[in-house]
Amino acid sequence: MAEADLRVQGFMDRHYRPVTATIVTRLRAIVGEGHVYDDPAALLDYAHDEVAGDEYVHMPEVVVKPATAAEISQIMRLANRERIPVTPRGAGSGLSCGAVPVYGGIVLSLERMNRILEIDRENMVAVVEPGVVTNDINEAVSEYGLFYAGYPMSVELCFIGGNVAENAGGGRAIKYGVTGRYVLGLEVVLPTGEIVQLGGKRVKDVTGYDLLHLMVGSEGTLGIFTRIILRLLPLPKARAVLLIPFADVPTAIRAVPMIMTQGRIIPTSIEFMDRLSVQTAYDYIGERLPHPDIGAMLLIEVDGYSESQVEAEYNAIVDLCLEAGALDVYVGNTPAAERRIWRPRQEMAEAFKAVCPVQSLEDIVVPLAQIPDLMPELERLSQKYDVLIPCYGHAGDGNLHATIVKQPGTSMEEWREKLPVILEDLYHVVARLGGTISGEHGIGSKRARYLPLVMDPTLITLQRRIKQVFDPLNILNPGKIFPEMPGGEEGR
Ligand code: LAC
Ligand code: ZN
Repeated sequence: MAEADLRVQGFMDRHYRPVTATIVTRLRAIVGEGHVYDDPAALLDYAHDEVAGDEYVHMPEVVVKPATAAEISQIMRLANRERIPVTPRGAGSGLSCGAVPVYGGIVLSLERMNRILEIDRENMVAVVEPGVVTNDINEAVSEYGLFYAGYPMSVELCFIGGNVAENAGGGRAIKYGVTGRYVLGLEVVLPTGEIVQLGGKRVKDVTGYDLLHLMVGSEGTLGIFTRIILRLLPLPKARAVLLIPFADVPTAIRAVPMIMTQGRIIPTSIEFMDRLSVQTAYDYIGERLPHPDIGAMLLIEVDGYSESQVEAEYNAIVDLCLEAGALDVYVGNTPAAERRIWRPRQEMAEAFKAVCPVQSLEDIVVPLAQIPDLMPELERLSQKYDVLIPCYGHAGDGNLHATIVKQPGTSMEEWREKLPVILEDLYHVVARLGGTISGEHGIGSKRARYLPLVMDPTLITLQRRIKQVFDPLNILNPGKIFPEMPGGEEGR
């Protein structure tokens, strides 16, 4: 550990108190005997998220699984009195260590709060608890002819509470935007234990500061969501997915803005995969490559309110892509064909984690027109540092998953030394192109030290002050978003 890191750790160890047997007894009194876990085997599952690497693992001292806002409020009051860090956690599918208890203490798992409380068809909203699996919302509302437009790639696994905390993006952001667009209301337990209601079932609200959307994307540092009011849309009646292989990356990337500017169509998704990503994902699911000469691939989805509208849109996209140099086009317009086309993309992160476990999955974002400038930079970094940098992601919105992968010949020691250097280099490139270091996974603790590379110190100080207003003792999800100050609290 660097000297500054050691000083921070030392300060934190003095600032926070351990979870004693008495605290565990009190927690049991709040949530019930069976909902407090402190044996190491049970704690291990709550020590990490989906970020690869042992260095990101931190054990909680205790895991509690409350069932109500009132219980969470009592836990927060206790934690404040005793100065114990509390890390809220959804499904643990995050990719920035947002739900990892970096200073130990209590992990507060929302998994028991998993009820869909109301589907209000007339107002087109759903009221849900934070532990509902995001996909289950769509399964429940589709029979009312409605749909929730948020679509993180881990949709069948992640919890809606985590999506709101991270302001999750995903595969449909180009047309439908990200999670925050659909959050109309929140019930929040503040770090100091008060329970507040923000927003409601109303689409418009300019009454006071927009604290609702300050909570969205606050990465579990400003409050714990206990009820979420989501805006729903009419369920599109038709949909189709196109799989389009290209011979190389530049040709595929050039086609992306053409679809929107020349074709004047905003598809639901435009996903990109380079050759290595395609190969890895298809190998992982045990399928043959869609085309022998494939050097890159686009996966494009369109949806709409009639078959003919969708057909007209995808035909126009097919024509444009062939004109742009696509090798071929495959259309999936049955549910089974759509699932088949999406599967390699949905399993991509999992595939890389299995095949190349020593890696850093990034979610950089640049303005759309700068993607062509980013690609050669990835190639340059890959050669300069002798790493692989496969790239896939949401090409339609500029959010790309460049994944830095260790070469087999590189020792772990060398990898640990060079990864931060590569990341800094990459983040400088991204900033120069008008982008930033995280488009959808969040800063968490994984990227906290890099935040100053892309954010003005005035803005970091302002945000620290906001954090202090909500959480004066810094007990809710500490160690996230902002680089810790070596001087401890005095330095804040
Ligand atoms: C995806 C995740 C990694 O897009 O964000 O697959
Ligand atoms: Zn993504």
